[in-house]
Amino acid sequence: MPKGNGATPRHFLDLDTVGKADLRGIIEQGQRYRLGKDEARPLVGKTLAMIFEKPSTRTRVSFEVGMKELGGEVVMLGTNDTQLGRGESIADTARVLSRYVDIIMIRTTAEDKLHEMARYATVPVINGLTDRTHPCQLMADVMTFEQHRGPIAGKSIAWSGDGNNMATSWIHAAVQFDFELRIACPKELMPPADVVSWAQKQGAKLRISHDAEQAVTGADCVVTDTWVSMGDEEPGKAKMRHNMLAPYRVDERLLQRAAKDAIFMHCLPAHRGEEVTASVIDGKQSVVWDEAENRLHAQKGILAWCLA
Ligand code: CP
Ligand code: NVA
Repeated sequence: MPKGNGATPRHFLDLDTVGKADLRGIIEQGQRYRLGKDEARPLVGKTLAMIFEKPSTRTRVSFEVGMKELGGEVVMLGTNDTQLGRGESIADTARVLSRYVDIIMIRTTAEDKLHEMARYATVPVINGLTDRTHPCQLMADVMTFEQHRGPIAGKSIAWSGDGNNMATSWIHAAVQFDFELRIACPKELMPPADVVSWAQKQGAKLRISHDAEQAVTGADCVVTDTWVSMGDEEPGKAKMRHNMLAPYRVDERLLQRAAKDAIFMHCLPAHRGEEVTASVIDGKQSVVWDEAENRLHAQKGILAWCLA
């Protein structure tokens, strides 16, 4: 029998496909886990399958530990050690996994694969990063901001760097959590136009420019990410990205333009001396280790929500 209760599973595919109240509930639950206020094990007898088509440290370990802390079990699948690597379709894999496990997390390249998994699975599917978005990271980032600076609604966040998968999820988050987002990126590396126009239609407080100083001035939080995301490593292309993104490096001089008590965030892995200087990421405004820790708490909230 396929697992699941016969109803449409509660997938966690992107921040724009989950309602605001549900997202807020997940954050609040994540904060309870973080503070040790909820030690229940609601997922005893449940199994999470994780599929990684790209490398991972944080996502992999935080989901595994999180599932175990909630009482569940984990099965880890790489592309090369499953039949996916030999051409078995995502749809068939989804149908088969739905006979064994209660929930699936997938990190993949094209978002079509994520959606195919969700279409054919009878159990919830979680997006563990695609080329386009990284919603689990954003839940941890919102938690981290609120841990340090209180409610994020009405605050201003500055993104300086590549308009990549993280930037896209920040745009989704700006709409869903109602904060101001100022993105500074090269004109060649803008976030996807459809996401920007969706956000604008939702009334987002979103500003996109090519001026890092302007974006960061007075911001409550400064964020950046690697210049070369997984899949962008082709040598010529990577060098071009370095040249285009150098003016967006977060260094002390740039961070000084932000609000006096601004925090610095980065989803990691970081490349000191490239997108961020060591003095910033290892400095006193940086909250990157709390941010990494919050992956665990936020994802426990996501797992509990998907399987509620
Ligand atoms: N931030 C993040 O997703 O890290 P990993 O690639 O190590 O999972
Ligand atoms: N933009 C980065 C995020 C890594 C967590 C990448 O996709 O490689």
